Amino acid sequence: MVKAVVAGASGGIGQPLSLLLKLCPLVDELALYDVVNTPGVAADLSHISSNAVSIPISLGFGTDDWKIAGYLPKDDGAKAAFKGADIIVIPAGIPRKPGMTRDDLFNINAGIVKGLIEIAAEVAPTAFILVISNPVNSTVPISAEVLKSKGVFNPQRLFGVTTLDIVRAETFVSEISGKAPTELTVPVIGGHSGETIVPLFSKVTPSVSIPSDKYDALVNRVQFGGDEVVKAKDGAGSATLSMAFAGFRFAEKLLKAIKGEKGLVEPTYVYLPGVPGGKEVAEVVGCDFFSVPVELGPNGAEKATNPLAGITEKEKELLAACTKGLKGNIEKGVTFAHNPP
Ligand code: NAD
Ligand code: LMR
Repeated sequence: MVKAVVAGASGGIGQPLSLLLKLCPLVDELALYDVVNTPGVAADLSHISSNAVSIPISLGFGTDDWKIAGYLPKDDGAKAAFKGADIIVIPAGIPRKPGMTRDDLFNINAGIVKGLIEIAAEVAPTAFILVISNPVNSTVPISAEVLKSKGVFNPQRLFGVTTLDIVRAETFVSEISGKAPTELTVPVIGGHSGETIVPLFSKVTPSVSIPSDKYDALVNRVQFGGDEVVKAKDGAGSATLSMAFAGFRFAEKLLKAIKGEKGLVEPTYVYLPGVPGGKEVAEVVGCDFFSVPVELGPNGAEKATNPLAGITEKEKELLAACTKGLKGNIEKGVTFAHNPP
C-alpha cells in the first residue's frame, strides 16, 4: 500500500498534481494538505473512479476510512495527513510575480518548507520527500538540515524536483532538432534558477546537432523558461500545469523504482555526499547539493552519475557560473535552518 501526500494541494500546482496522483495505479491512498480548501479538492477528486479509492465524506466516515482525504491545519491536520506517508510532495508556498527572482520567495517559503519538514520528520521519518517549493536551491538544504537536526536525514530519500528544466529542454531541443521530445534524453544539471540551470546539449541522446547561431538562445530559454511563463501569466503566478506534469513524472518514476523497476534515471537535486557515487561528483562540481542524473531504486537515490566527462568548453563556462551562484543559495538555506528569524 502506498500513501502519497501533497502539501500545498489546493494550489496551482497542487490541484493538477493531486489529480495525476489520483489517477496513478501506483498510489493507494492520497492525503491532501493545505492551509485552505482541501476538503473541497478532496471531495471533488474522490468522485473519480480510480485506484486511490474514496469513501464519500458525506457518509461521515472518520478520516482513517478515507482513501483520499483533505486536511487543514486545525486539529493537527498536517500530522494526520503526513502520518505514515511513503511519499510526500511539497508544492506549498508562494509563486513569483513578474520582476521577482526565485530567491525573492525565500523569506516566506523557507519558513513554510521548514515547518512542513519538521512535521514529516516527526510522523513520516522514512518518507521519500520531493521538494517543489522555490527557491529549490535553498529549500532542499533547509529540508536536509531540519531532517538532520531531528536525526532522520536519509539523503537517498530527499529530492529537489528539477524535472521541469528537463521537460523544457526536451521540448525546446525537439523544436530545433525535429526529433520527438519523448525520444530525447537531455541532461540538465546544477540547480533550479537562471544561471544555476546547466543544460548539457553535448550529452543529448540520441545525439542532436544544435546550430551554433541557435546555441546561446537555446541555453537561455532553458535557464529562463520559468520567466517566460511568469511574464505570460502577468501577475497570476508561475508554471503550474507543466510543473504538475513534471512533478508527477518524477514521482511516478520514483514509485516505479521503489517497486523494483530497473534502469530508471532522472536528474534531481540531491545532497551528493549522501548518495552512492555522489561524493566524487560533489568534489568535481564543487557543491554538495547539485542536480545530476540519479539512478532510482528501492532505496530512492541509488546512484549519482558524473555527467561531466567530455563536456564542451561552453558547458564548462556554464558550469562555473552555476557553481558560483549555487554555493550562496545553499549557504543561505543552511544558515536559515540553524538560525531562523
Ligand atoms: P499557489 O499559490 O498556486 O499554491 C501554493 C499553495 O500552497 C496554496 O494553495 C497555499 O494555500 C499553500 N500553502 C501556503 N502555505 C502553506 C503551508 N504552510 N502548508 C501547506 N500549504 C501551504 O502556488 P503554485 O503556483 O502552486 O507554486 C507553488 C510553489 O512551487 C512556488 O514556490 C513556486 O515557485 C514553486 N514552483 C516550483 C517549480 C519547480 O520547478 N520546482 C515549478 C513551478 C513552481
Ligand atoms: C519554473 O521554473 O517555472 C518555476 O521555478 C517557477 C518560477 O518561478 O519560474
